[in-house]
Amino acid sequence: MLKKFKIKTFGCQMNVYDSQKICEILYKLGYKKTSIDRDSDIFLINTCHIREKAKQKLYSELGKIYKIKKNRLKNNLSTICVVAGCVAQAEGKEIFKRAPFVDIVVGSQAYHKLPSLIKNINLKLKKKLSIELDFAPKSKFDNLPKENIQKEISSYLTIQEGCNKFCKFCVVPYTRGPEYSRPVEEIINEAKILTKNGTKEIILLGQNVNAYHGVGPNKKEFNLGKLIYFLAKIKNLKRIRYMTAHPKDMHEDLFKAHKNVKKLMPFLHLPIQSGSNKILKAMNRNYTVEEYLKIINRIKKCREDIVFSSDFIIGYPGETKDDFKKTLNLIDKVKFVQSFSFIYSPRPGTTAYNLKDTIKQEEKKERLSILQNKLKSYQEDFNKNFVKKSLNVLFSNTSNEKKIQSMGYSQYMQLVRVKNKIDILGKIKNIKIKKSFYKSLEATPLI
Ligand code: SAH
Ligand code: SF4
Ligand code: F3S
Repeated sequence: MLKKFKIKTFGCQMNVYDSQKICEILYKLGYKKTSIDRDSDIFLINTCHIREKAKQKLYSELGKIYKIKKNRLKNNLSTICVVAGCVAQAEGKEIFKRAPFVDIVVGSQAYHKLPSLIKNINLKLKKKLSIELDFAPKSKFDNLPKENIQKEISSYLTIQEGCNKFCKFCVVPYTRGPEYSRPVEEIINEAKILTKNGTKEIILLGQNVNAYHGVGPNKKEFNLGKLIYFLAKIKNLKRIRYMTAHPKDMHEDLFKAHKNVKKLMPFLHLPIQSGSNKILKAMNRNYTVEEYLKIINRIKKCREDIVFSSDFIIGYPGETKDDFKKTLNLIDKVKFVQSFSFIYSPRPGTTAYNLKDTIKQEEKKERLSILQNKLKSYQEDFNKNFVKKSLNVLFSNTSNEKKIQSMGYSQYMQLVRVKNKIDILGKIKNIKIKKSFYKSLEATPLI
């Protein structure tokens, strides 16, 4: 009988990309994906370590897997439990201590070793635990499957891994290791395979995607701006996006790409974290609010209709009411159209971990709620603006088997739903908006 696996993914888009590659690895080994617990011969959790809550999700998930594993054993069925990703990288052997029934711990740069790790468990060569935590992004990308069985209309493509910036609050430089940029040729080849299989939009990924500096043709170094020019030449590729960009790494070629490459969408996620220079400095972000605003204005000059989203950290040690007000003021200036915001979570191993917590929990919660209400009102206003107007939407999904409702994203990254009779999947349609909501839009059906 065909063996089956279940995979659960937490964390950022880079984990989503990695999970897709892990699926391809398991398909190659003859496994089939399932969503049914009791059928799963392999359980895989791809984890995130960015905040304490993200980490806790792993252990609550493992509690469930333990029970399933025990029940399957009663029917003489063995189950392999794999913990992958950033918690695996950060905690390593600790995971086996807290959850001894875990079979494999594999860090974020070692997925390509999964076939041999699984084989060893199946052959009972390694009775208890198997661990792979090497930082070797080059060999990871060299050895990941090139096939693309899961066909997507909008696809992620990781071009850069890791981070050298060491913001004081952040685990990424420790969980993903130092910066690595994939060679241009490899990226173009992957993009061509994706588009051949029906992809119309590619979202270029990296923890610091605009710090990309891969080897290009004639051994010349390429930056992200140049890479976008190159990718735009792929005929069947209609849309390009990139994330997550760091304000410090915005560069001339990238501004030019925003100006000249029409396939590059007018939406940019550019995390600022705080609107106070004092806090930005304490975080080691290496830019000021004024510099950030200059970048925003510069991009707007290149592409008039561009809109922005951001990340915010609330309650960083030392954040006063006045610092917080400055963050609110910044939001009023930029009018972000969507954003992520979280209360600061101290992470073991980071430099900020031992800083004294200066703010009461209730105060942090109140600040977060004020900030989120402000962000929400700008997002709602932005969406409302499009009622009775048209947007370009790439339809990438249907909501159910009957394919009655199609979903896609506008050029500004708004989720648009439409109850359509004709099949519009994979097509970009200029469609009229009927209704707006906080996080989505409803369009008038096309006939
Ligand atoms: N490289 C990107 C962000 C990657 S992490 C950048 O520098 O902008 C994604 C987001 O998680 C960050 O932008 C930040 O807002 C949030 N984050 C990271 N560490 C955090 C922590 N310790 N507590 C709360 N939020 C955190
Ligand atoms: Fe983390 Fe800062 Fe690197 Fe972003 S730039 S991944 S926040 S260390
Ligand atoms: Fe989380 Fe790792 Fe991404 S810590 S946010 S999954 S890089």
